[in-house]
Amino acid sequence: MSDHFDIAIIGAGPGGYVCAIRAAHNGLKVAVIDERPAFGGTCLNVGCIPSKALLHVSERFHEAAHDFAAMGIACEPRIDIAAMQAFKDKVVEANTKGIAYLFRKNGVTGYHGKGRVSAPGTVEVTADDGAVTTLKARHIVIATGAEPATLKGVKIDEKTILSSTGALALDEAPKHLAVIGAGVIGLELGSVWRRLGADVTVIEYLDRILPGMDAELAKTLHRELKKQGLAFRLASRVEKAAAKGRKATLTVSPAGGGEKETIEAEKVLVAIGRVPRTRGLGLADIGIATDEKGRIVVNERFETNIAGIYAIGDVIPGPMLAHKASEDGVALADLLAGKVATIDHELIPAVVYTAPEAAAVGRTEEELKAAGVEYARGSFAFLANGRARAMNLSAGFVKLLADARSDRLLGAHVLGPMAGELIHEIAALMAFGGAAEDLARITHAHPTLSEALREAALAISAKAIHS
Ligand code: NAI
Repeated sequence: MSDHFDIAIIGAGPGGYVCAIRAAHNGLKVAVIDERPAFGGTCLNVGCIPSKALLHVSERFHEAAHDFAAMGIACEPRIDIAAMQAFKDKVVEANTKGIAYLFRKNGVTGYHGKGRVSAPGTVEVTADDGAVTTLKARHIVIATGAEPATLKGVKIDEKTILSSTGALALDEAPKHLAVIGAGVIGLELGSVWRRLGADVTVIEYLDRILPGMDAELAKTLHRELKKQGLAFRLASRVEKAAAKGRKATLTVSPAGGGEKETIEAEKVLVAIGRVPRTRGLGLADIGIATDEKGRIVVNERFETNIAGIYAIGDVIPGPMLAHKASEDGVALADLLAGKVATIDHELIPAVVYTAPEAAAVGRTEEELKAAGVEYARGSFAFLANGRARAMNLSAGFVKLLADARSDRLLGAHVLGPMAGELIHEIAALMAFGGAAEDLARITHAHPTLSEALREAALAISAKAIHS
């Protein structure tokens, strides 16, 4: 049997499913293939969405146990992990069902099974029962995302040594959780299980947490996380982790060389990055070019070196973020419909859902210094923001960076309550080429967290009122 489409997309994550819906809006006939039983990819099934459910629950639990008393609420909360996991599963189900509904509504044909490009213009879908369906498509889009990077000498069994998938599904808080990597996944999931009662040790190769984010923001977040009881071993490389029974032993050495030591833990989370997922797609057979990191090489129109085959999201260079993949998907769907589409890669916000939350858009101070750009910086602490104080959440700050001569905003770094929401005001201003003074002249309602952004802008263009 063979079905004919304008576009066949392999992978129904935030890159693939968004591309599919947009292409359908553009009047194209679209097929999407995914091997998971539910559409939505890593993000909806075992990534962004379930982790946000656990982060939300564990934050509320922590607040109730530690912060309510100071606000006059007396209670002794108890966590029911099975009920929390059931809540998470319901959230995931509602979201993935939503994608299936949107496919039906927009006339997108979904296929469950493994997709393989057998030739340009042809995709074979092998279902779990071995049945093969052949799809013909003018355009084929690879949107297969990424998978956890593995460490030599560490075998993920999802029982004792976990990837993020296993760490999202634990049925009790481990006594001691060792986290390899102080990146986004390590800090988010480390925070979840710390708040639910685990002793957590984060082992990081570099001498700082969150590489790539603004150093001052990372330093302050590091201090806040230590206050919450997370232990850190920076400048330490995990060389080996071995599971035996209900215990794991890690071999750790100083990054600069020196004596090795062992750390024991009940569970280990491996969070050392993610790698593009291209295995089994038949790409090597048809000669698709990849780079030294295994990412598919594409041009600015997402075209690979083989005509009619495109790639978007985590399988191509760029930040491995759901919203970046979705933007790629929208742009490609428009290009394939003959429209104009561009993405400003300078304006992709990044959010780390710790408490306090960390968010950034544009350049860091380190990047501006390295590029020799003269800049002005303005910062404002949430301690001096009335709303943050009233919420009993006054840790963190806003830092804005603007061009020293033109005053144009170049970057924003926010650590604090709702940072992931606040950052978009700056992203919007930057998208229109806004200056610090523009932000300082916009009336912000009082009392709001957003006033901290305006105060940071005033700190550049004049002087902050409340500091
Ligand atoms: P990451 O790249 O953010 O951090 C990995 C860390 O592991 C680095 O700091 C690295 O120095 C360290 N490391 C590597 N090898 C090591 C070793 N042998 N011993 C000790 N430390 C070692 O990777 P992560 O956290 O696994 O996240 C993967 C991807 O998923 C990222 O691209 C991230 O952006 C994305 N993601 C985004 C989220 C968000 O936007 N909120 C949430 C979760 C993941």
